[in-house]
Amino acid sequence: MNATTLVLGGTGKTGRRVVERLTARGADFRVGSRSAEIPFDWTDRTTWPAALAGVGRVYIAYYPDIAIPGSADLVRALAEAARDAGVQRLVLLSGRGEEEAEATEKVVQASGLEWTIVRCSWFNQNFDEGYLLDPILAGEVALPAGDVPEPFVDADDIADVAVAALTEDGHAGEVYELTGPRLLTFAEAVAEIAKASGREIAFIPLAHEDYIAALADADLPPEVAWLVGYLFGEVLDGRNAHLSDGVQRALGREPKDFADYARDAAASGVWNV
Ligand SMILES: NC(=O)c1ccc[n+]([C@@H]2O[C@H](COP(=O)([O-])OP(=O)(O)OC[C@H]3O[C@@H](n4cnc5c(N)ncnc54)[C@H](OP(=O)(O)O)[C@@H]3O)[C@@H](O)[C@H]2O)c1
Repeated sequence: MNATTLVLGGTGKTGRRVVERLTARGADFRVGSRSAEIPFDWTDRTTWPAALAGVGRVYIAYYPDIAIPGSADLVRALAEAARDAGVQRLVLLSGRGEEEAEATEKVVQASGLEWTIVRCSWFNQNFDEGYLLDPILAGEVALPAGDVPEPFVDADDIADVAVAALTEDGHAGEVYELTGPRLLTFAEAVAEIAKASGREIAFIPLAHEDYIAALADADLPPEVAWLVGYLFGEVLDGRNAHLSDGVQRALGREPKDFADYARDAAASGVWNV
């Protein structure tokens, strides 16, 4: 197998951590993103052959989101290009309870290459590296999240599993469903962050219609507005309100708790105002 690993989304929440771990292992890798030395752009297939040249394994963190219709077609095209380029192993970052994510998983499973699926719950890092950072800094998080709990998972755990699947034997053909060790409502997650950061942060429960109206006012790209409406309006209906054991199965250890994540993120100063 070619030694180089292509890390798609290699500057993002999970990809950056995959790159850190490959670096620590002395493994050969190439970042795949628009800003990389050899640029990779999901929307420009002419960039794919150079990014895939000489690569043996690919970590696929699709952008903007695997739940958005169309991801399965693009990942199918990528898997074919990868196979043609001599790639032997794919590790797909996926999401739980999402129709398009399931279709995309099937594409990777049918690719003819070695595959591992890393199917994840909501990331902790949405609160300090993603779209919930601004509301946290503003001291008010308003979401149509209701009382449905989510087992938030840490991007460090995701990266540990992904790197194990990329670099070790014994993970091919596995669907690892990754969650944190505890179910929390969004209100409870925000309360953990308030406690860890020593700040007052309010959680305001919104009606779904009010949230959709606020999104329309916010002038977001249409696919992002659709995605957020879909995630809160459909996926967060209780279908994912249970723990899974993917971290334990892949790594033989427990996942990181949200309180430990909040403590570490607070210590970094990211939530200081
Ligand atoms: N966030 C969650 O809670 C969650 C939960 C489950 C699954 N997921 C899945 O995780 C995946 C990543 O989501 P994320 O929120 O963590 O994003 P992310 O990986 O942090 O996204 C940013 C990365 O994507 C790259 N990128 C942006 N536009 C690109 C383009 N057109 N072509 C190639 N690369 C591009 C960026 O680099 P450049 O700017 O250099 O291009 C950067 O490396 C998604 O498929 C999502 O469905 C997310």
